[in-house]
Amino acid sequence: MKIVVGCDHGALALKEEVKKVLAEFADIEVQDVGTYTEDSVDYPDIAEKVCAEITSGHAERGIVLCGTGIGISIAANKIQGIRAALCNDVYSARMSRAHNDANVLAMGGRVLGPGPAGEIVRVWVQTAFLGGRHARRVGKIMDLEGK
Ligand code: RB5
Repeated sequence: MKIVVGCDHGALALKEEVKKVLAEFADIEVQDVGTYTEDSVDYPDIAEKVCAEITSGHAERGIVLCGTGIGISIAANKIQGIRAALCNDVYSARMSRAHNDANVLAMGGRVLGPGPAGEIVRVWVQTAFLGGRHARRVGKIMDLEGK
């Protein structure tokens, strides 16, 4: 599975932690689309870069990071085909995959320390979508894109 990661200047350190955790998984390939310095950037631009890799079929999932995770998750959810989940805890991370089939995980670099963030990432990459009744509901979410 290929996972694209991106952050704004508010989550540079968290991006490095996320990449370190993803490196624990031999079957995960990581693509880092920036930002790479502390210079201020606009998080919608980063969300667009990450999500373009997913909607074009070059990657299966993405992880987007900003100061709170809020702005970049809102931006990502404007893009067709993206289901971004802002998760600050392990339970939400698990449910975002099992029930919502989230293809993007959002977290806040100014919210989460490296330990909790690492656990969230581990659970998020290892949890499968349950399908069944949840597939019907996710289908209804995707139908909203056309309304
Ligand atoms: C940037 O200062 C900050 O607004 C951004 O990282 C994020 O927290 C927005 O939601």
